[in-house]
Amino acid sequence: MTVTTDRDGAIATVTLRRPEALNALNGNQLNALLAVATTLSADVSVRAVILTGEGQRAFAAGADIKEMAEMDPVQALAFTRLGHAVASAISGAPQPWIAAVNGVALGGGCELALACDIRVASQNAAFGQPEVMLGVIPGWGGTQRLPRLIGAGVASELILTGRRIGADEALRIGLVSAVYPSEELLGQATAIARTIASNAPGAVQAAKRAMAVVHDTDMAAGLAFEAQAFALSFATADQKEGMAAFIAKRAPNFTGS
Ligand code: CAA
Repeated sequence: MTVTTDRDGAIATVTLRRPEALNALNGNQLNALLAVATTLSADVSVRAVILTGEGQRAFAAGADIKEMAEMDPVQALAFTRLGHAVASAISGAPQPWIAAVNGVALGGGCELALACDIRVASQNAAFGQPEVMLGVIPGWGGTQRLPRLIGAGVASELILTGRRIGADEALRIGLVSAVYPSEELLGQATAIARTIASNAPGAVQAAKRAMAVVHDTDMAAGLAFEAQAFALSFATADQKEGMAAFIAKRAPNFTGS
């Protein structure tokens, strides 16, 4: 299995397992990851997903260069579309995905992390979009998601130079939200996932959807979407429970209804 899923209650951990190639993704692994993401999206008992890579060296070293080397444009189009489908399955999933970046996240590996809602990294993590050094460009969403996340100027510098950055710089430019010692990374990512899972599921999912439209719409339409989603949350039992629990000074018991 090149992609595995472990369940711990409401939290699923998805692990890329091809350590001999630093978890570089070929077509088979992309298809496996797409199947896993699709299955998890349909599972209402999953409230948060962690994505990580096997071993200490790599989250994912990108798309499989050996598989891409002899592709023609038609094959490359199918490959980029598959990568887009995987990234969209993650970014469009109802539950939040957290990238626990445990080593290099280069090229397509960085792009998978960008598709996640939250990124945390180990101190030995490294990020980069080195595609121009291979004669190609980012093909799994990097030209679109990186500028949206960290701003056009810094994204341009990274994508046009192919420069690799360490975890501290990734934190400074907002590419990740926290950096931990390697041995703490998964525990810290799990703690974030547990906190998310303890919140009202419908509200978490509505907030994710509302933030997603930032990139697809103008301010007025985005605020209109937020207003609708906000109002709709008042139709849930969890809204009544969450507010009643606050007023009664007790912990809420969210049911997802
Ligand atoms: N594709 C295929 N195999 C890869 C790979 C990749 N992206 N990255 C690493 N590997 C393989 C290596 O070929 C090597 O295999 P062999 O033992 O069979 O030779 C094994 O993983 C270990 O790698 P290295 O010996 O190179 O390890 P290192 O510690 O010396 O270097 C590294 C590590 C700096 C990450 C280096 O492997 C590297 O630069 N990898 C390529 C990173 C890259 O350019 N990624 C972008 C790919 S293009 C892309 O992703 C396009 C897109 O947007 C979709």
